[in-house]
Amino acid sequence: MAPRDRLKKQINKAGELAGKAGKKAGKKVRESAVDRGFEERLPTNLADKLAPPRSLETVQADLDALVGLTSVKEQVATQIAFLQVQERRREHGLDDVSTSRHLVFKGNPGTGKTTVARLIAEMYGSIGLLEKGHLVEVDRSGLVGKYVGHTASKTNKAAKRAYGGVLFIDEAYALSPPGLQSNDFGAEAIETLIKRMEDNRDKMVVIVAGYPRLMEKFLTSNPGLRSRFAREITFPDYSTAELVEITAKIATDGDFHLAHGCAEALDKIYSQAVRNEGFGNARYARNLFEQALNRQAVRLSQGNVAGLDKNAVTEITVDDLVAAVKVLADQPPQPGDAPLGKLRRI
Ligand SMILES: Nc1ncnc2c1ncn2[C@@H]1O[C@H](COP(=O)(O)OP(=O)(O)O)[C@@H](O)[C@H]1O
Ligand SMILES: [Mg+2]
Repeated sequence: MAPRDRLKKQINKAGELAGKAGKKAGKKVRESAVDRGFEERLPTNLADKLAPPRSLETVQADLDALVGLTSVKEQVATQIAFLQVQERRREHGLDDVSTSRHLVFKGNPGTGKTTVARLIAEMYGSIGLLEKGHLVEVDRSGLVGKYVGHTASKTNKAAKRAYGGVLFIDEAYALSPPGLQSNDFGAEAIETLIKRMEDNRDKMVVIVAGYPRLMEKFLTSNPGLRSRFAREITFPDYSTAELVEITAKIATDGDFHLAHGCAEALDKIYSQAVRNEGFGNARYARNLFEQALNRQAVRLSQGNVAGLDKNAVTEITVDDLVAAVKVLADQPPQPGDAPLGKLRRI
């Protein structure tokens, strides 16, 4: 191999390794931030900056691996297929079916909206519809300013950070609170966004998300707002069986396993949970699992810790889960958490 080629190969390899390391570190930061509910306060995440883009097939596999969400997966596939065909049409010099790429996600907390938005951003990136495919998550506080003129510049700055990727606006209806006073700057943020969505439509995609009922109000709050979005995708609450499967997946992904009887215990826990719109769905499952880990640690620390075998440190028992439910039921919701559904004791 010519020295030049060898050098090129080495540089590529180094880039790949850096990307992998960055992705891992970024994922860790992101996951712990997501779980604590303040992801939107993070600057553009490390993984998005350092990781090389993944292929459409790889991202698609991540989407497929999500539990349930059948109709969401179908609609995402349709949207991607549609945009790909439009792109080909444009390349053939054919008439451009005027397409919006912006989306509305309607779903209760913990139904997978942010997770799917991140994957869509990556998909758009991998098929060349967006330059980078990263996700910038903001809420009202990231768009609305404190004085006249501040809001437009703040919203424009958020949009600029999202160029090449997706601007994900969580709880978008907070921009148009009911009984809007004339001095609320939320309306200015919406106007600015609409302008960015039109003028910079090739540069970024906007996804607005939140509770279904309130999203409906938001979309009718401003004439012409609804028509800017290509699709409205509904994220249904998870069934008890899906929540059991999600918990098992969270366990497996973290190198744990559920002991005999846990599936039945989880079934009982989730079927008795009060399922109002603030229940927390998969986020509740994650919180429950994390509390179970605490219980496991306390249980194991009572014996000979140095002598614990692999099975002992990876196993979550029914008692760990039952104790975890009790902790969650007694715990007031944390700031940024989805409000927890109250559970009857089992
Ligand atoms: N279908 C699913 N399968 C596996 N894990 C899921 C699924 N949906 C959500 N989760 C997990 O639940 C948590 C909350 O999901 P998130 O996308 O943040 O929900 P939302 O944005 O709707 O509040 C995340 O940790 C995510 O990984
Ligand atoms: Mg979210």
